[in-house]
Amino acid sequence: MTTLPRSHGAAEARSFVMPTYAPAPVRLVRGDGPWVWDDGGRRYLDFISGLAVTSLGHCHPAVVTALADQAARLWHVSNLYLNALTEPLAERVDRVVRLATTTEPGRVFFTNSGAEANEAAIKLVRRHCGPRRNTIVSALGSFHGRTLGALAATGQPSKSEAFLPLPEGFVHVPFGDLDTLERALGPSVGAVMVEPVQGEAGVVVPPPGYLREVRRLCDERGVLMVVDEVQTGLCRTGAWLASHHEQVQPDVVTVAKALGNGMPIGACWATAEVSASFRPGDHGTTFGGQPLAAAAALATLDTMEREHVAERAASSGAALRGALEAVDGVSAVRGAGLLLGVVLDRAAPAAPEVARRCLDKGLLVNCPAPGVIRMAPSLLVEEQQVRLACDIFADVLRDGVDRSGGSPL
Ligand SMILES: Cc1ncc(COP(=O)(O)O)c(C=O)c1O
Repeated sequence: MTTLPRSHGAAEARSFVMPTYAPAPVRLVRGDGPWVWDDGGRRYLDFISGLAVTSLGHCHPAVVTALADQAARLWHVSNLYLNALTEPLAERVDRVVRLATTTEPGRVFFTNSGAEANEAAIKLVRRHCGPRRNTIVSALGSFHGRTLGALAATGQPSKSEAFLPLPEGFVHVPFGDLDTLERALGPSVGAVMVEPVQGEAGVVVPPPGYLREVRRLCDERGVLMVVDEVQTGLCRTGAWLASHHEQVQPDVVTVAKALGNGMPIGACWATAEVSASFRPGDHGTTFGGQPLAAAAALATLDTMEREHVAERAASSGAALRGALEAVDGVSAVRGAGLLLGVVLDRAAPAAPEVARRCLDKGLLVNCPAPGVIRMAPSLLVEEQQVRLACDIFADVLRDGVDRSGGSPL
């Protein structure tokens, strides 16, 4: 028998994890609401929520209870059988998606992540539109995930250059530019795929009315509208979906991140007509919609509804935004609800350095683009926590902004 080598201690420099990330040097071991603790017992105010995932805060009691109950009952059976939760959850997601309109009920395919929800959307569009209309137009700067199809839809060549060839059939146009989009809608185009706000590009917001105009163009050309609400969806921007702000009803919607409040689950919703193009065997997943994740998602959506989380995100978002705009060293704040991109002015330290100093002072934020800090706290964040985060942030910028005319730190 071979003996396994002894595992290395935590302090060892060698890592067994592939180097796709350069994690901050803190080991987080516990969370409660908007707070997390490291292995040394130090507390941090979490204003990034595992990348806009733990929208109800860490270990929300309703989600913990639902998950624990389900864990004692049934974990997994695959999609070869029905279970008690997938259908009710699909109905719930359908209700969320159609909230702003009178569209007929649609259908849902469950996944384990945002990228997979978008892969499902891409395959569904191809299945529905057929080989002659298999082009999808998406936006430059967009982010739709790291799997090859989602990466091909993503409008950031730097993320895909090393992994060519990508699947064919994707065209990119500038985000927010309707004229270029209209010109791109040739006869081979089956769908437009768009984020309401480009989170990963640095919380980039299109001009007002953009989504509504995209919908109009899609209708005019008989093209499907796919909206990626993986980051913006489920109350994050102050509405159940960001597309609801403009009363837009897409043909296909993807959500993930906040759906399980930390349990990995995503969903691709489509209208009844588009959904009907998928036949048994066309697409699949071993885990998607499995009972544990579905239990967490049902509890998350129930809590969001019961606690009026969209409204709370809108009002806390306005408060956070106002406070950040007043911070010396901030040139603009963009975004919606509690998905905010804080644009630093040129005298401020570089954004990654700002994020690092925030961490040192007990505040978790991240830097999605040069010169931008993203804040996406729990949607249940309280007023004094908003104030504390802004105080820490102002402190960090005050340390770094040199108003004497000398060079920044
Ligand atoms: C808009 C959007 N789509 C898709 C994804 C990919 O989601 P996941 O990382 O769960 O695959 C992300 C992740 O950041 C996202 O922001």
